[in-house]
Amino acid sequence: MRMVDLIEKKRDGQVLSREEITFIIDNYTAGEIPDYQMSAFLMAVYFQDMTDEEITNLTLAMAHSGEVIDLSSIEGIKVDKHSTGGVGDTTTLVLAPLVAALGVPVAKMSGRGLGFTGGTLDKLEAIPGFQIEIADEDFIRIVNESKVAVIGQSGDLAPADKKLYALRDVTATVSSIPLIASSIMSKKIAAGADAIVLDVTTGDGAFMKNIGDAKRLAHTMVRIGNLANRQVMAVVSDMSQPLGEAIGNSLEVVEAIETLQGHGPADLLEMCYALGSQMVVLAKGAANLTEARAKLQEALESGAALEKFKEMIRNQGGDVAVVDHPERLLTAKYEFDLPALQEGVVTKIVANEVGVAAMLLGAGRKTKEDSIDYAVGLKLHKKVGDPVAEGESLLTIYANSEDVAEVKELLYANIEIGASGEEPELIHDIIVE
Ligand code: URA
Ligand code: CA
Repeated sequence: MRMVDLIEKKRDGQVLSREEITFIIDNYTAGEIPDYQMSAFLMAVYFQDMTDEEITNLTLAMAHSGEVIDLSSIEGIKVDKHSTGGVGDTTTLVLAPLVAALGVPVAKMSGRGLGFTGGTLDKLEAIPGFQIEIADEDFIRIVNESKVAVIGQSGDLAPADKKLYALRDVTATVSSIPLIASSIMSKKIAAGADAIVLDVTTGDGAFMKNIGDAKRLAHTMVRIGNLANRQVMAVVSDMSQPLGEAIGNSLEVVEAIETLQGHGPADLLEMCYALGSQMVVLAKGAANLTEARAKLQEALESGAALEKFKEMIRNQGGDVAVVDHPERLLTAKYEFDLPALQEGVVTKIVANEVGVAAMLLGAGRKTKEDSIDYAVGLKLHKKVGDPVAEGESLLTIYANSEDVAEVKELLYANIEIGASGEEPELIHDIIVE
């Protein structure tokens, strides 16, 4: 087989076989196919698209390009959850203990922040002592005993994806549905999931800027998951404004605790119920989404989910006292309010740019090497659709520097107040097959 012939085939819109796709991925991973040929191939895929069978074969070839985690010694159906990205997305911190409180195993491997704000691992590490590097045997033992552990992803998962993503980034081929779908699903399959719940976000703060593309991506991932013998469900959700009220690592831990205590933001809680009920159904913990939601509500209201969060923190070496005294985590030196400059209704809070503002404070990384300041971030007091009086605080800035002029300017430029506005729909679609 010659790479040039396969590029030509895809360029002309033909369908590649499993052997051909495996040849491309294996040889690219091994360094036998150069970046210039792979770049041409990616651009051909970008324009010609792929069939579901091709995307499935691409996904499986990428999943098997490195280590594939074997979770078979954990009892039960292991359901993983993945979000395609957002700002202030605190769901995993709430969802992991909430779902585990029903006895459903949550063996989660998470990443660090790729974008502007911290990822789930960074948020968990804002809890003093919390360990995310845990040996495989201990990870499996903890999940068998406690039903939940959230740890860092090992370095060798789907190395083909790592290499391809870097190439896509510099060849304008990131925003291609077959390439995104295979990238995400290969990592979930390599991480050992039996079933997968996807949160496909749409809006300013997301990869998919419009709802149509997000729905298409979600349907594609569900279909290829099924072709790869994994049960998959998806939620298409709004990420035009940040999720919840807190953006920043310690602030989001506090937000997760408040949500588990029953007084968190309504949108965050709704996302957790929507995604959690899919996880529970896939793990066969309930017959349908309605029954699953009722069980999750019960676990939250009884305090069982909060207890599970404490257990998870204790198991991973963290300081459990923060759950009853979350204010201990709020250690930023300065707090500044951002007063509304006029009266009206909030019509826009651009998620992306608010994420950049949080990063400028130190809550995220500009480059991979940057370190994170857990204490800093933003707490929104108003969301889209809320009325606001002139001078009323739109949000609080938690900073460790006195000079937040640039951050304030960026926030003012990306929060709009108008005559009328409505709360956006949070969940655009629920895809179960
Ligand atoms: N997230 C991924 O993991 N891969 C993509 O290609 C896009 C988003
Ligand atoms: Ca949040």
